[in-house]
Amino acid sequence: MENNTENKGFDCFKAELSEKDFQAFSRYIFTEYGIKMPPVKRIMLQGRLLKRIRELKMNSYSEYKEYFFSKEGQERELLNFLNVVTTNKTDFYREPVHFGFLKDHVLPAFAESTGFNRPFKVWSAGSSSGEEGYTIAIALNEFKLSNPRFRYEILGTDISSQMLQTAARGVYKESKIDMVPLELKRRYFLKSKDRDNPTVRVIPELQSNLKLRYLNLMDSVYDISETFDVIFCRNVLIYFDRITQEKVINRLCRHLSSDGYFFIGHSESLSGMDVPLEHVKPTIFKHR
Ligand SMILES: C[S@@+](CC[C@H](N)C(=O)[O-])C[C@H]1O[C@@H](n2cnc3c(N)ncnc32)[C@H](O)[C@@H]1O
Repeated sequence: MENNTENKGFDCFKAELSEKDFQAFSRYIFTEYGIKMPPVKRIMLQGRLLKRIRELKMNSYSEYKEYFFSKEGQERELLNFLNVVTTNKTDFYREPVHFGFLKDHVLPAFAESTGFNRPFKVWSAGSSSGEEGYTIAIALNEFKLSNPRFRYEILGTDISSQMLQTAARGVYKESKIDMVPLELKRRYFLKSKDRDNPTVRVIPELQSNLKLRYLNLMDSVYDISETFDVIFCRNVLIYFDRITQEKVINRLCRHLSSDGYFFIGHSESLSGMDVPLEHVKPTIFKHR
């Protein structure tokens, strides 16, 4: 279980996150960020908060709770809290069907309808450490190789400042690009010289096309003026309850072009929801 590994090495710290303190955090996380935190997650949250408690040299979870909900805590601790409570698992070429669909259907249709008179815009909502955004950039850049007039812009948003920083840096363990085809690895990644700690860096051209910023999908209005041709909202909705999912999708769709596409993760579903999207194939939807 997750907490067993997270707790290792901290045996001297015996305190527990009480049911009451857990409920206070869980209510807050759900209300402010939409993330469900049912009672079975108490031990997981306990393990994750332990890191912050040690860093702040505190003695108990209740001390951390008092600090977190104080005015000062809300100002100074919120970003650290979000960094530990969010689940950020992601990968390059995760759920590759979407990148094939972009190449075979979305981009040719865009070329035909616009004649490349404007940039193609994609939003990676819940972008985590950037692997999704950079995979989109690779797919779009490949299309650009045979369509030089094609321009594109990608926006990546998340609530974890740590993940946004990793994305902006664009440096990953070399093993993270195992799934990337060799030709694309050569074209889009620069290898570090340090063979003891092999890393790769995405090329500056990809980095300059991925803009990153903090955005909470629970905000009642998104402070975004653009309209997107495609929205990737994959493996984010799964953390929300159905009512929240429906609200978030409706808000995202206000920023989707009238013939735009919406991609979700394979373990997510929109069935029975009142959202302006029509099913194209599993996990792929079109604005209606
Ligand atoms: C599991 S990752 C998915 C990353 C990527 N989309 C993928 O499919 O690989 C989920 C991301 O959603 C972010 N997230 C969770 N709640 C959010 C919210 N209310 N607003 C914005 N991002 C959120 C988390 O911080 C996390 O980085």
